[in-house]
Amino acid sequence: MENFSFQNPVKLIMGRGTIAQLAHEIPSNKRIMITFGGGSVKNNGVYEQVKAALKDHYTIEFWGIESNPSIETLRKAIEYGKENKVDFLLAVGGGSVIDGTKLISAGLLYDGDAWDLVLSGKPATHTIPLAAVLTLPATGSEMNAGAVISRHETKEKYPFYAGYPLFSILDPEVTFSLPDYQIACGIADTFVHVMEQYLTTPGQSRLMDRWAEGILQTLAEIAPKIKENKHDYKLMSDFMLSATMALNGFIAMGVSQDWATHMIGHELTALHGLTHGHTLAIILPATMQVLREAKGDKLIQYGERVWNITTGTREERIEKAIRCTEDFFRSLGLTTRLHEENIGEDTINEIERRFNERGVKYGENGDVTGTVARKILETAL
Ligand code: NZQ
Ligand code: ZN
Repeated sequence: MENFSFQNPVKLIMGRGTIAQLAHEIPSNKRIMITFGGGSVKNNGVYEQVKAALKDHYTIEFWGIESNPSIETLRKAIEYGKENKVDFLLAVGGGSVIDGTKLISAGLLYDGDAWDLVLSGKPATHTIPLAAVLTLPATGSEMNAGAVISRHETKEKYPFYAGYPLFSILDPEVTFSLPDYQIACGIADTFVHVMEQYLTTPGQSRLMDRWAEGILQTLAEIAPKIKENKHDYKLMSDFMLSATMALNGFIAMGVSQDWATHMIGHELTALHGLTHGHTLAIILPATMQVLREAKGDKLIQYGERVWNITTGTREERIEKAIRCTEDFFRSLGLTTRLHEENIGEDTINEIERRFNERGVKYGENGDVTGTVARKILETAL
């Protein structure tokens, strides 16, 4: 096990009817800006619940934080928040609204262009408090300090780190209105978050391994059931908590992390607008294939404990584990090959060019360079 320090300050409030708790979780003297996406909350009752809970608070609303939140939109939110002297942010939505609000929380206290904060690569330390009402289980943004911000003008998308939410409210009933595609992408995203922290160096922590495998097994078990009934409270609760637990630091203690699949996936989103979880379903099986030697021992453990692969030669077992992973993503209803999304050689060239220019070395061994990313993308064709 590697040395580590761990602290996660987010208060998690989960269950039916919990949005009403906003009334006493946010001090009554706060000037709140509530941030929203494109309007799904107006169709599923979430907006009314939030407004009812905050009826005695000062609130203004900022609408239109889009999927893969853009600096272009967030600049407007920062300006609006400054004009109204807000001192508390409440994000109501999926990962995009929460991520965007994290940048707003730093941008409100910054005099320059908030894109500088993203490009600096340094965690923002000066932020105003924020909290979240989560409507889409996937990113873990409700219980971590990360965000991913896009710039449409230049088709770029980068990670950014700010403060953790003070608290996040998770009512599984709000997920009942999710389209099937968003559920599939949310399950894929959750699955790959675990894999980025698990399919790395073998033998670092029995406990972290089993915790990670527990989330993967849960997803494998509930995914087909959710497909049959996405209005099952118990199933959606397990999905929601799995997504939060997958990326709140709890499975990352003392273990190395990969994130190459994510970084390649972000480029696919930046260049083609492909939904985040979907990019991962395409890239992860190819990453496993290209790095099968370095990741071999862990692939065998994963195959055995998650997919019950207990027979065959080492190479056969690895092959089967990769196939089960791709089959799982396809069972969600997602495509798993670039050509199925009409993405080809031009994109591969561009991603290799960008990675070489940036001199990146992703992965737990720092060996995923532009050239290796090209191999992964070619394998995903
Ligand atoms: O905008 P609205 O109208 O609200 O609709 C959204 C959006 O169109 C809709 N939706 C959300 N909740 C709904 C709902 N529709 C019906 N019923 C509900 N209850 O779903 C669509 C997608 O929402 P979005 O927030 O974009 O999805 P997600 O939560 O997957 O977030 C994706 C973003 O998070 C980043 C991704 O890169 C991407 O930009 N990530 C953030 C991470 C983090 N903060 O730690 C880690 C992840 O790896 C990821 O990179
Ligand atoms: Zn992700």
